[in-house]
Amino acid sequence: MPKIKKVAIAGASGALGPHVFKALADAGFEVTVLTRSKKPGAYDLAIEVLEVDFTSMDSLTSALKDIDAVVSTVGGTAVDGQTVLIDAAVAAGVKRFIPSDFGSVSTNPKLDKLPLYSSMANIREHLQKKAAVGELSWTVLACGAFLEFVLNMPTVIDFKNHTATILDDGDNRVTSTSMPLVGTAIAAILKNFEATKNQILHISEVIWTQNQLLGFAKELQPGIKWETNKTQTSVLLKESLEQIGAGDLSMPVILKLLKATALAGDTYGGAYDVTDNELLGIKELTADGLKTLVASHLA
Ligand SMILES: NC(=O)c1ccc[n+]([C@@H]2O[C@H](COP(=O)([O-])OP(=O)(O)OC[C@H]3O[C@@H](n4cnc5c(N)ncnc54)[C@H](OP(=O)(O)O)[C@@H]3O)[C@@H](O)[C@H]2O)c1
Repeated sequence: MPKIKKVAIAGASGALGPHVFKALADAGFEVTVLTRSKKPGAYDLAIEVLEVDFTSMDSLTSALKDIDAVVSTVGGTAVDGQTVLIDAAVAAGVKRFIPSDFGSVSTNPKLDKLPLYSSMANIREHLQKKAAVGELSWTVLACGAFLEFVLNMPTVIDFKNHTATILDDGDNRVTSTSMPLVGTAIAAILKNFEATKNQILHISEVIWTQNQLLGFAKELQPGIKWETNKTQTSVLLKESLEQIGAGDLSMPVILKLLKATALAGDTYGGAYDVTDNELLGIKELTADGLKTLVASHLA
């Protein structure tokens, strides 16, 4: 059984990347950072940071020499470009590739043809082809909506301004995991090489609903007047696809597409009732724990 020792991470300077970098380093892997441009002072001097051209096979193959596994946490717009990184990983003899996916419903085949989701699906297909001929193994991690994004951004419930747009009946269940735990799971994947080979794994720290989060906020701050309105996820999905079709790829439109799908409950499987939490060392958050987190986000 191959033992993973040296791990390269691409996209380590983003939102998720630093948490994954820390978890890999804490788990004892020798981590190399692949970046488009070095950020002075970003890493301990002992860390190998390589400036690479993510469009060049030569640049990437040379950077991946002696690397056992590649973890990609590149941002959404760079997902398609990972084909070059995967091909270079094969050329360099890398044993495991974890692509930048880390979605909520991105692994649901019903969404494979939709903008954004099609990029993730193409990368999974590319990896499956390489694995089928024994060139590489892969693992995709589905983790739900990042818990930090759910609580810090006004997208689901705006805790600071006391407003919310309730989707459907507000009871759609959604999985979330915090970013440090996504890092924990990635390190565990690399420690459990055979058990995690060529599969999509699911982790879920907590399952919430909009009504539950709003209920916590109202209970914790009685007397506050909330402004709420309602819409349907199907309406949001139609609107977002029309806007994207008309060439609008702005962040509000992308967020609308993500909300319409990730918060659509059973329609796209946004809540994971069956998980790989135990294998990947994920401790679940209780409802009380979630309420405490909501309390820390109230104005
Ligand atoms: N489940 C959720 O709620 C959720 C939320 C957000 C994101 N995600 C997913 O998590 C993953 C990481 O997202 P993120 O928000 O952390 O990403 P991000 O902050 O937008 O970007 C991460 C890093 O990607 C690198 N990068 C950017 N453009 C690149 C390019 N063209 N080629 C190669 N590298 C490039 C940059 O690193 P360098 O400058 O160092 O090269 C950047 O710091 C994505 O798969 C995203 O879809 C999931």
